[in-house]
Amino acid sequence: MDKLVIEGGIRLKGEVTVSGSKNAVLPILAATLLTDEPCIINGVPNLRDVNTMIKILRSLGKNAELDKGTVTVTPGKHTNFVADYKLVSTMRASFCVLGPLLGKLKKAKVSLPGGCIIGIRPVDLHLKGIKALGAELSIESGYVIAKAAQLKGSHMYLGGVYGSSVLATANVMMAATFAKGKTIIESAACEPEVADLAEFLIKMGAKIKGFGTPIIEVEGVRYLRGAIHTIIPDRIEAGTLMSASLITRGDILIKNVFYQHLGAVIDKLQEAGANITKTDSCLHVRPRRQLRPINVTTLPYPGFPTDMQAQIMSLMAVTAGISVITEKIYPDRFMHVAELNRMGAHIQREGPHAIVEGVKCLSGAPVMASDLRASASLVLAGLVAKGKTSVSRIYHLERGYENLEEKLQRLGARIWKEKE
Ligand code: EPZ
Repeated sequence: MDKLVIEGGIRLKGEVTVSGSKNAVLPILAATLLTDEPCIINGVPNLRDVNTMIKILRSLGKNAELDKGTVTVTPGKHTNFVADYKLVSTMRASFCVLGPLLGKLKKAKVSLPGGCIIGIRPVDLHLKGIKALGAELSIESGYVIAKAAQLKGSHMYLGGVYGSSVLATANVMMAATFAKGKTIIESAACEPEVADLAEFLIKMGAKIKGFGTPIIEVEGVRYLRGAIHTIIPDRIEAGTLMSASLITRGDILIKNVFYQHLGAVIDKLQEAGANITKTDSCLHVRPRRQLRPINVTTLPYPGFPTDMQAQIMSLMAVTAGISVITEKIYPDRFMHVAELNRMGAHIQREGPHAIVEGVKCLSGAPVMASDLRASASLVLAGLVAKGKTSVSRIYHLERGYENLEEKLQRLGARIWKEKE
């Protein structure tokens, strides 16, 4: 197993290019199950999660290859409607094969995703939506079994305790493409990744309106063709790199960014004292003077993304003053707090709030990554800490960041991989 070693204290400078979005490509790969024709997906990051989804497509009978940022999916000799526990349990996002399998094959058997360290993540909204389309559902031996001779369009409300659900919206939208008549999804997720999926489905011949808003309409069709699509850039990777520039008091030009997808992040970083210049598909990020403490509350899009909560906490950990960070999507998503405190941060957890008292500097230490975004926050802390930090279990990081270590090295960071 590898760990990352970081020698802090370097101001990052230069240009860096953002990869394609992990959270956009995963449901889009699942959507290729809706057609028997070839699909070509460009701008795909080479990530552990992408390779898991490719394995799942192959286990469901597809030929799927990732080569230099392009995934080609073609029909295989057989089709299979069972998504195996062994694969699904390694990645929750694979649960979004349920909708396309049911839509296309009229039956699906998909393992329930297991537990997750960032919080209880039920799939009740996925099942509610699929049931509303007229599917028969049962849960047996850890699998969801769904079948329907013909799905029927339906008007449903898909909001939950914590608001809308990204992958439940994706799952239902994909199944509804083959439902008879019109489906209306109220309290749909508005994330750019959902809109990118809708764009891809429309290229395949689906009829979808209102994506990017809380009300999505899908008119069922009989057939979907293959399509060629380029994935949107990863807004969370862009947000992480913006934080890297600010935490090291650096000066970075971030390329291949849709800054329209980062409204809440840009707003909060500017409030903290960041100097951010937007050009076509670039963001130039550097601190104005001393950064200021800010209060942040995570919300569904277009609110502040929960996937940026840990990174902003690292930034506030070295910003003089008191910041309050409130997690409204996953109230227990605070595994990084103890590790940051090991590096000398002063962070106190109070239920869904973290009270961050900024310190002058952090000190390098051995720390452990617990999940994808927590690992990014520890890397950021290591970039500014005095001395050496070693971040273990970086397989979490590799699930969602393509070559982050090389990208940071090119910006001047002293960061390298070592065997544990
Ligand atoms: C997506 O997960 C992202 N993953 C997550 O990113 C992200 O944190 C999350 O959306 C929220 O933005 C992918 O896109 C692959 P949700 P998803 O369903 O769709 C509750 C990362 O770091 N809920 O929108 O699984 C749920 O427990 C990952 O890249 C129900 O109650 O998240 C949570 O509190 C981590 N019932 C809230 O809704 C349901 O049926 C939002 O979850 C579904 C969800």
